Amino acid sequence: MTSTSLPPSLLATLPGAAYTDPALFALEQERIFEKMWFCVARAADLPRPGAFRTVDVGRESILVTRARDHSLRAYFNVCRHRGARLRTDRSGEVRRAFQCPYHAWTYDLDGRLIAAPNLTRMPDVGRIEYGLVDVAVREWLGYVWVCLAEDPPSFEADVVGAAVTRLGDAESIERYGIDGLTVGRRIVYDVRANWKLIVENFMECYHCATIHPELTEVLPEFADGYAAQYYVGHGAEFGADIRGFTVDGSEGLDRIPGVSAEQDRRYYAITVQPQVFINLVPDHVILHRMYPVAADRTTVECDWLYLPEVVDGGKDLTRSVELFDRVNRQDFAACERTQPGMGSRLYANGGVLVPSEHHIGAFHAWVRERLGTERPM
Ligand code: FES
Ligand code: FE
Repeated sequence: MTSTSLPPSLLATLPGAAYTDPALFALEQERIFEKMWFCVARAADLPRPGAFRTVDVGRESILVTRARDHSLRAYFNVCRHRGARLRTDRSGEVRRAFQCPYHAWTYDLDGRLIAAPNLTRMPDVGRIEYGLVDVAVREWLGYVWVCLAEDPPSFEADVVGAAVTRLGDAESIERYGIDGLTVGRRIVYDVRANWKLIVENFMECYHCATIHPELTEVLPEFADGYAAQYYVGHGAEFGADIRGFTVDGSEGLDRIPGVSAEQDRRYYAITVQPQVFINLVPDHVILHRMYPVAADRTTVECDWLYLPEVVDGGKDLTRSVELFDRVNRQDFAACERTQPGMGSRLYANGGVLVPSEHHIGAFHAWVRERLGTERPM
């Protein structure tokens, strides 16, 4: 099946190999994840100087930390001596420096090489020249974003602008005060599916009536199959009997005070390419980060963010968290069900997108453009 033979109501998807080919995945790592701004941590996960987190960005391991002046720093997690990983743990805290476990080269939190055994007998080792190599860092919405490109693209255009455009105006997202919210719950999902299947799933709601009974109960218009993020500035309205964005439609938590009357009782969804999804409801914000691991595997880290007094006050978040946790599990099960089909000979030329999914075609065009023309798909 090719696009030329399709009726106008159907668009072709990417071919199956786009979801299974390790060489293509490596190209995506290089041309998408190592070139764009990539969300790596909640800033509050690094509360003090020396607190750190290691994250794979594209094919590199990045060490994210806070310097003595509390500024965020991100370095390649590679010792300048013989290349050992400085840290292999996912998170932790050092007192004042990172010491390589191999020959004990030691770097301060600013990345300078401050000690190496016998360094006095090796005066040629430059402490700056052989310091850790840093990458660009930004903080927005209380999250840490890094970019491995030598000349990073504009953060304002690619991240802030992209998110704001979806909502219609900058104020709409600022009203939620996301940087001041607290993580009430974090769940990490190991999804046996290609990252693009997860993006595509998040972009459409054609599946909502089939697999999301709780969500369509709370947001009845989702049963019609049209995703909120498809329309700029559109929030899906809660059903008439729904009191809050909870698994059973019962009352939610304390409402975020900045949320406008227009935003109240509505759900907004934003995709920030390449790996962040944001959901906004009156009493909390749900923020997903995808970490592509392999062509057929993706880690998704999801935070539920509430007002600090809600979390610190020990309020019961169970019914609130359970709604989107179920949605996530339903979505990821669908992606995992789809992944094996990508390797089927039947899917060599891909499948089709129905009209309510046509905007996914723009995502496919974007992927093709990022990867360039030497690997047509
Ligand atoms: Fe790190 Fe030798 S590799 S000190
Ligand atoms: Fe879904």
